[in-house]
Amino acid sequence: MAEPRVILCVDDDPRIRELVRLILEPQGFRVVEADTGLAGIQRLREATIHMALIDLQLPDVMGYALAAFIRNMTQYQTIPIVALTGAYSTELIPWIAAAGFDTLLQKPFSVQALREIVRRYLDAERPEPAPAVADPAVELTHLRRLTREMAYDLWRYVEELNRKTVLMGQQAKLIEEIVIYTIHSIIRILETNERYTAGHSQRVGAYAVMMGRRLGLTHEELRTLELGGTFHDLGKVGVDRCIIRKPHTLTDEEWAEIRRHPALSYELLVEIPFLREVAQIAGEHHERYDGKGYPHGKKGDEISISSHCVILADAFDAMTSHRSYRRALPLPHVVAEIERCAGTQFHPEVAEVWLRELYDRGEALLEETHRQFPIGDEGTG
Ligand SMILES: [Fe+2]
Ligand SMILES: [Fe+2]
Repeated sequence: MAEPRVILCVDDDPRIRELVRLILEPQGFRVVEADTGLAGIQRLREATIHMALIDLQLPDVMGYALAAFIRNMTQYQTIPIVALTGAYSTELIPWIAAAGFDTLLQKPFSVQALREIVRRYLDAERPEPAPAVADPAVELTHLRRLTREMAYDLWRYVEELNRKTVLMGQQAKLIEEIVIYTIHSIIRILETNERYTAGHSQRVGAYAVMMGRRLGLTHEELRTLELGGTFHDLGKVGVDRCIIRKPHTLTDEEWAEIRRHPALSYELLVEIPFLREVAQIAGEHHERYDGKGYPHGKKGDEISISSHCVILADAFDAMTSHRSYRRALPLPHVVAEIERCAGTQFHPEVAEVWLRELYDRGEALLEETHRQFPIGDEGTG
């Protein structure tokens, strides 16, 4: 009776090795097992192996390296080698071929699939392997060449991956810019329609950034703050236009409608993954340091420092712009109001840095900002 043909299964998962044994041994094959790459090489030296099934992710070496190593063992240059993997992707195919695998079997595999692959590759005509020659010098030369080749392939692969990553980063950046541009456009339309609040959002963004700089915020935090300031009133798109434009005193119901806008700003922005912190700022822009604001009545440090900047910037722009019921307030009046409300409506530290900015160059700052983002005739703030 002919000796059974021997199939080596190298996989660190004992269930897979047992499965291979249970499927193939009744078919007349002998299965030898190894749980690591090194143990696999040991089995290959101990007995004549006719076929190898190798998991791509072994605990000690990559399955690719093991396949390439086997291919360079003189006696195993032509045996069928099958890659086993649970993470199949078409990108693997050239790598599998380059390493010397004949084919790939995706885990979990069916009884039928394993039997079929073994029959196909073991029965195929193959050149007789060279007789076993244990020449360490030859194997070492092979191994060195192989290491160089694999290092080069790996370098190319990493280069390609880096290129793709840079490209994806650029695309993501472009998408972010488009989203931001779109929101800017919505706000511009909103403010143009209101006519009197022209430039309000941009001025709030600009003032908030000036405060943030004085507070020592990072470049990244300033960018978030600028967007939080500029997008704070976005929720007004969901508020009844007639109420926003109403020139005279509002009823309780109408105020309740207006007061929905910070929460609406938050809801609209929080859905956009890279604008979550911006959403937080927009949602808090009518809160107060003393907890008497809305929509949640948060107080003190429950409100982020960036939100505190927008709270003050929003109020500052409201005071320094025309309203339906009054002209813009003179700067000394505004300064006095901020001094009075520091520690109640406004965060004391934010109020302090802003007052310092106003003492230093208040009129010039207003003139400069109003030139860049001109104020309308009146508005609701
Ligand atoms: Fe608002
Ligand atoms: Fe506002």
